[in-house]
Amino acid sequence: MVFKGVYKTYAGEPILKGINLSLRKGDFAGIVGPSGSGKSTLLHLAGGLELPTKGEIHLFGRRIDTLSEDERDKFRKGRVAYIFQFHYLLEDFTVEENLEIFGKLLKVPNLGEKVNRILEILGLNHRRKYKPYYLSGGERQRVSIGRALLSGAKLILADEPTGNLDPLQAEEVFKLFAKLNSQGITFLVVTHNKNLLKFFNKIYLLRGGVLSDYSPL
Ligand SMILES: Nc1ncnc2c1ncn2[C@@H]1O[C@H](COP(=O)(O)OP(=O)(O)O)[C@@H](O)[C@H]1O
Ligand SMILES: [Mg+2]
Repeated sequence: MVFKGVYKTYAGEPILKGINLSLRKGDFAGIVGPSGSGKSTLLHLAGGLELPTKGEIHLFGRRIDTLSEDERDKFRKGRVAYIFQFHYLLEDFTVEENLEIFGKLLKVPNLGEKVNRILEILGLNHRRKYKPYYLSGGERQRVSIGRALLSGAKLILADEPTGNLDPLQAEEVFKLFAKLNSQGITFLVVTHNKNLLKFFNKIYLLRGGVLSDYSPL
């Protein structure tokens, strides 16, 4: 994923002011920065949910900011997945049903097999018949990671994915990210949690609309 001189302006107010960013396959990158500094905006641009006011965005070798919304949606599918602070699971359905329903929407082949394998990876086999209400926050977030895996995404954009979790659960979610990262999935993660910075191989600070390397020391 590459940003070249990316600007984003909302209602005449510049939010991002010339962002240059380059992620390679296998990166596990973090973004920190004050509230309102544009971190979520940057993630939206990265996956083509929104368009920059100026500059170029490239994903998997293709320039996406010149594509139509339809083309961007198609291009994103199976390549990029988002994980948010809130899990957006279907409350009336069990863990495995949540994955199956999502997989059917995406027309995932060999769905049953894949759901089994993903529940294994997530460490949620023993929770497969549970509805979200009966899960811990960390377990719910792991189900949303399962959805991302089902989609086949090679890039996961996560916006404060542990914002609702206690430190132990947050650490577990990041350990799962690290495991998936070691299997070739690239991550760009916005977080406020200083204890989790140790997981990243690159950390950026977004402040005043400008991105810089961040050194936690
Ligand atoms: N769709 C939008 N329309 C107008 N202003 C927006 C929109 N999205 C974000 N903003 C503004 O852009 C700034 C950055 O927001 P955001 O990217 O959510 O920051 P962060 O995630 O770092 O807290 C904020 O001032 C916010 O109000
Ligand atoms: Mg945000």
